[in-house]
Amino acid sequence: MRQTHSFVSIGGLTREDILSLIAEAAEAERQPNRTLLQGRIVATLFFEPSTRTRLSFETAANRLGAKVIGFSDPKVSSTTKGETLNDTIRMVSNYADVIVMRHHLEGAALYAAEISDKPVINAGDGAHEHPTQTMLDLYSIHKTQGGLDGLDLCLVGDLKYGRTVHSLIQAMRHFNPRFHFVAPKELAMPDEYKQQLQAWGIPYVEHTDLTPEVISQCDILYMTRVQRERFQDLAEYEKVKDLYVLRAAMLGGARENMKILHPLPRVNEIAVDVDDTPHAYYFRQAENGLYMREAIICDTLGIPLH
Ligand code: NCD
Repeated sequence: MRQTHSFVSIGGLTREDILSLIAEAAEAERQPNRTLLQGRIVATLFFEPSTRTRLSFETAANRLGAKVIGFSDPKVSSTTKGETLNDTIRMVSNYADVIVMRHHLEGAALYAAEISDKPVINAGDGAHEHPTQTMLDLYSIHKTQGGLDGLDLCLVGDLKYGRTVHSLIQAMRHFNPRFHFVAPKELAMPDEYKQQLQAWGIPYVEHTDLTPEVISQCDILYMTRVQRERFQDLAEYEKVKDLYVLRAAMLGGARENMKILHPLPRVNEIAVDVDDTPHAYYFRQAENGLYMREAIICDTLGIPLH
């Protein structure tokens, strides 16, 4: 267990860090209610909308005995009066022991971590990263596949703006994966990430169609929502929003162990008839977020669960 530290980017984690957090999450799942954080204050500052991320962080804090302060809508904070992020963070870091923050600007979490003398946890910074989502994705993959090594992952949808897939490929680099990317040209995986994969020697194949053949080749099918809020031109969004809809009828040739993940919220990407198939795992995945976020809060404060 490291000293108190921020959790801003997935890139800085080693294979051992990742496996150790997964073990801590399993421990949290075994016993979610504890008093480890009694007397501590967790601040949740959400400058962008959220359901699962904020609620699971707040539930995690409450289940560990901490108290929670914060806002879920920046309109009710002094941001609307023109207060800078710098000033908000300085002040909140005097109130709370750890700050969980989601912000629309890429790099906002790193910036906040530099200002704050308390740990900052990145709950999403623009289209950049979402490292705690990735940790719960990895926990879900580990639980369903019995490990993380040597898996075939197919990432589908908005690979350009989707921050969850950007963090996921970086974390998986330690585990010898093979990737399929399914996206329209407009939403393809950005070159910077593809170049990183090449430098790491990790194979990937790009597709524009989600076919049963691609589905039959993967252990994890990771669906994503087209990130409407990141488009400058909504006419462009309309063109791509419904390109991929996964239906139960497309799963006939899937591997038995194949699980479908989605960070949620889903819009149209997964038809409800998929929910009752043995491949659907997205609601359990969201539940896993609670345990992983208990592990992450404790980790940033240097408090072991084991
Ligand atoms: C994701 C996000 O905010 O990036 N949601 C989440 O945290 N579970 C995915 C999304 O909004 O599409």
